[in-house]
Amino acid sequence: MPKTWNPESWKSHEARHLPHYEDAAELAEAETTLASYPPLVFAGEARALKADLAEVAGGHGFLLQGGDCAESFAEFHPNNIRDTFRVLLQMAVVMTFASKRPVVKVGRMAGQFAKPRSSATETIGDMTLPSYLGDNINGIDFDPASRRNDPQRMVRAYSQAAATLNLLRAFAGGGYANLRQVHQWTLDFMGRTPWAEKFSQMADRIGEALDFMEACGIDPGTVPQLQGTSFYTSHESLLLPYEQAMTRQDSLTGDWYATSAHMLWIGDRTRFPGSAHIEFARGIGNPLGMKCGPSLEPDALLRLLDELNPAREAGRITLISRFGHDKVEDGLPRLVRAVTREGHPVVWSCDPMHGNVVKSDSGFKTRPFDRILREVKGFFAVHRAEGTHPGGIHIEMTGQDVTECVGGAVAITEERLGDRYHTHCDPRLNAEQSLELAFLVAEMLNEAAGSRDAEVSADAA
Ligand code: PEP
Ligand code: CO
Repeated sequence: MPKTWNPESWKSHEARHLPHYEDAAELAEAETTLASYPPLVFAGEARALKADLAEVAGGHGFLLQGGDCAESFAEFHPNNIRDTFRVLLQMAVVMTFASKRPVVKVGRMAGQFAKPRSSATETIGDMTLPSYLGDNINGIDFDPASRRNDPQRMVRAYSQAAATLNLLRAFAGGGYANLRQVHQWTLDFMGRTPWAEKFSQMADRIGEALDFMEACGIDPGTVPQLQGTSFYTSHESLLLPYEQAMTRQDSLTGDWYATSAHMLWIGDRTRFPGSAHIEFARGIGNPLGMKCGPSLEPDALLRLLDELNPAREAGRITLISRFGHDKVEDGLPRLVRAVTREGHPVVWSCDPMHGNVVKSDSGFKTRPFDRILREVKGFFAVHRAEGTHPGGIHIEMTGQDVTECVGGAVAITEERLGDRYHTHCDPRLNAEQSLELAFLVAEMLNEAAGSRDAEVSADAA
């Protein structure tokens, strides 16, 4: 590392989007508490995810990253965790079945609380208060007491993340994710979408394949991969006092790891050169994501990659593009070419959510499903043209039956947005829309695999 790094070296860099805490002693107390608590993940698990992502970077898999825009204390409930987990499982099965390649599953779960906001304040009527910054910082209710930044919220967020992760681990390894359960994963209300029927047909075919394999002596008893699955957690590395308190030295390697999640990403607003968030990220051994929006120039991206991944380790960096449906085909190729030219091994992932927010006439922030789909299609088209691997998607979704994004096969209309609009921040795809997106991405993955195979056989001829 060029300059010395330590878990608090970010403090001498420019930090944007960090809350100001009025009482330094109160903050120090919360940090000390967190620093004394057990890590949420083990460094070896972060390395396992990095190895999985290295496979994806090499073109041999796909990354599915999804979950809430912002987790909240109010929505903390086992059913919500289970339903989001099961929709992610369904999506992963659909994509694996189509692409015949492994899908790496990473939740925006168990720690995704803090939010960067475009405005520091919010005004309703004649009252102006600090903006809501996420449940680990302040409260969403519009009153002065709730909007005060409270360091103890970090401790509560830790507890919620620990309990969430515990349940996710139990589901992933305890039998819920057994492929024999694939039929049971369908949610009741999914009966409305035509994609539920398609899922059920696919589940029948998986069942037949499992029956066949069992007859050959290959069953969940002998092959643990059929019994459970790997599931990883991630969130935006935004609230640096929290991340620092959760950063520990790995006893096996002596390297530093953020132990708040397996993977952390750097947001579009905090990835500028010289930022405190980049400084923090460069010293931790976890796999890192970085959001790439329209304002990122190829040269700046290359400098950031050199800083975050000087050893050019595959699996270390996932670049998450979020241009917007109408900008991706113009903006992304320059970044892809620069990164390819310099030989940086990255996973290219597509976030079709954050460049596609619109305000509906009814006043709700929403994201039209057709724009989300168009951005994903544009992303695949760019990678096809550039000869690079479209490696993943990054989405805001929930297993709940919400009405936050308009469109989809069971069309959510603008008038219906108010029915079940529960998000604490940006609008999420509901379970039906997520499954639909998975089938459409699966088609694209199939096409991408088809054109890759055609190239291989043309090269061989
Ligand atoms: C997010 O992922 O919730 C987010 C704020 O994204 P971005 O940094 O891309 O705007
Ligand atoms: Co968001």
